Amino acid sequence: MVQQPEVPSPSAMEAPPVVEMRKIVKRFPGVLANENVDFDLRKSEIHALLGENGAGKSTLMNVLAGLYRQESGTILVKGRPVNFVSPRDAIQAGIGMIHQHFMLVPTQTVTENILLGLDKPRFRMRLKEYDQVIGDLGDRFGLKVDPSAKIWQLSVGEQQRVELLKMLYRGAEVLIMDEPTAVLAPSEIDGLFATLRSMIAEGKSIIFISHKLQEVTAIADRITVLRKGKVTAGGQPIGEMTRQELARLMVGRDVVFHVDKKQLEPGEIVLSVANIHADNDKGLPALRGVTFDVRAGEVVGLAGVAGNGQNELSQVITGLRRCTEGCVELNGEVICNQGSLYSIERGLAYVPEDRNRVGSSPNLSVTDNVIMKKYRKAPISRGWILDMMTATRFAQELKETYDIIVPKVETPVRLLSGGNLQRVILAREFSGQPKMIVAVQPTRGLDVGAIEGVHRLLLTQRETGAAILLISEELEELFSLSDRVLVIYEGKLMGEVREADLDTVGQMMTGTPLEEIRKGGGKQNV
Ligand SMILES: Nc1ncnc2c1ncn2[C@@H]1O[C@H](COP(=O)(O)OP(=O)(O)O)[C@@H](O)[C@H]1O
Ligand SMILES: [Mg+2]
Repeated sequence: MVQQPEVPSPSAMEAPPVVEMRKIVKRFPGVLANENVDFDLRKSEIHALLGENGAGKSTLMNVLAGLYRQESGTILVKGRPVNFVSPRDAIQAGIGMIHQHFMLVPTQTVTENILLGLDKPRFRMRLKEYDQVIGDLGDRFGLKVDPSAKIWQLSVGEQQRVELLKMLYRGAEVLIMDEPTAVLAPSEIDGLFATLRSMIAEGKSIIFISHKLQEVTAIADRITVLRKGKVTAGGQPIGEMTRQELARLMVGRDVVFHVDKKQLEPGEIVLSVANIHADNDKGLPALRGVTFDVRAGEVVGLAGVAGNGQNELSQVITGLRRCTEGCVELNGEVICNQGSLYSIERGLAYVPEDRNRVGSSPNLSVTDNVIMKKYRKAPISRGWILDMMTATRFAQELKETYDIIVPKVETPVRLLSGGNLQRVILAREFSGQPKMIVAVQPTRGLDVGAIEGVHRLLLTQRETGAAILLISEELEELFSLSDRVLVIYEGKLMGEVREADLDTVGQMMTGTPLEEIRKGGGKQNV
């Protein structure tokens, strides 16, 4: 778990701002993204910028990082007005931004990427020496990554470390991190936080963009909240604010943190998973004999530290990965190793973790995305012809029902915020009245308002009798939505729990089967 930040020293509190943004206005066609925004950053502080998706956080920081030009307003760095026309100018002034989507060359090494674009024409000849330099820099800030590894070989978390190293190598004093935890597994977040603290200790200043209250209160010294382009809290010390207050400043109304789950008697077995074995992408065993059932009107949660077979399991069930042993049945019919279309046609819905690549087609419209599973059938398809009128009407209806905020259903989904994109996917998946739903990290990266909406939609499906397998790393989410929670460790189930006993679940997540814990012989976790 994350630790509380240390109290900033008095000298840090009194230091003049490293960065000051005054009355920043930035417009996009039809949107006032930043409306007279004031923001200041002090030396050696972590200043959180909090707000829902679309609040204007990235825009404001893109202005500071020299990527966008403001329509009006001024920026001062250490008291001096600056005028950035490109990110290069901002970096020269010591300001570096790590974007949500990384900008690395996959076929090159870590060191090559870090030195890329710098005036060091002959670094390639002395790559080994530079590997050493980058390695040392990494050690200094707790950024563990192999300098000679190629980017494509790295996990997303490691790639983020490369982006940080790149900025540190260029001498950034101010680091802007745009939703850095959105791409990380919970287990990687502590590492990032430790790095941020070590950077503060070396006199750097950090702007931490997030929409997660828990993270912000754990890491930040001060906080600025944006809502619809305007500041609703300006640089308040974090200690003074409660989570409820922050939520209200962010979304403008009270947020419900727990969900109302109706008492339901589970029905017939819908999904039956029996002794499943499967390999991961590297050909190593990822699932080693997994057995469980999910009944109609029941949510079964799957807890586990990332990378313990959760993804492989969801892929075997949805027909995207072959199992080497065992069997998956949907309503008594064998669906494993039959391909995904086969299970879709038998009533399986899939809400994948990767909304942008697997869950949707970014360049296609909302309409195209919601009819994706239906275009082969009437009434949308008539023989060879797609009935676009019917398709549009169908999309309009879903837009209303699922509260998708978008001007027209013809808009490409890549322009939608994370919460709205997720609603498009849920609309598509749930409109077919699925019998079985496999939902993987359905709320990852969403803000509180959108999370609430997704939870409600899942519970509505439960009430209408769907069987749901919920795979999530958020224990709070798992225990509030699920009727029972299975815990997976290294491809095996460690048991099933119904209550949020975190001590027990924690032991199971680190490899102690429930039986052993019950026997009183549970391993002591150090
Ligand atoms: N490049 C762009 N072109 C048009 N509109 C944009 C662009 N970038 C952001 N917007 C709009 O500006 C508003 C603020 O977006 P953004 O700064 O990305 O919010 P946040 O980072 O808080 O989620 C949103 O309404 C968004 O749709
Ligand atoms: Mg953003």
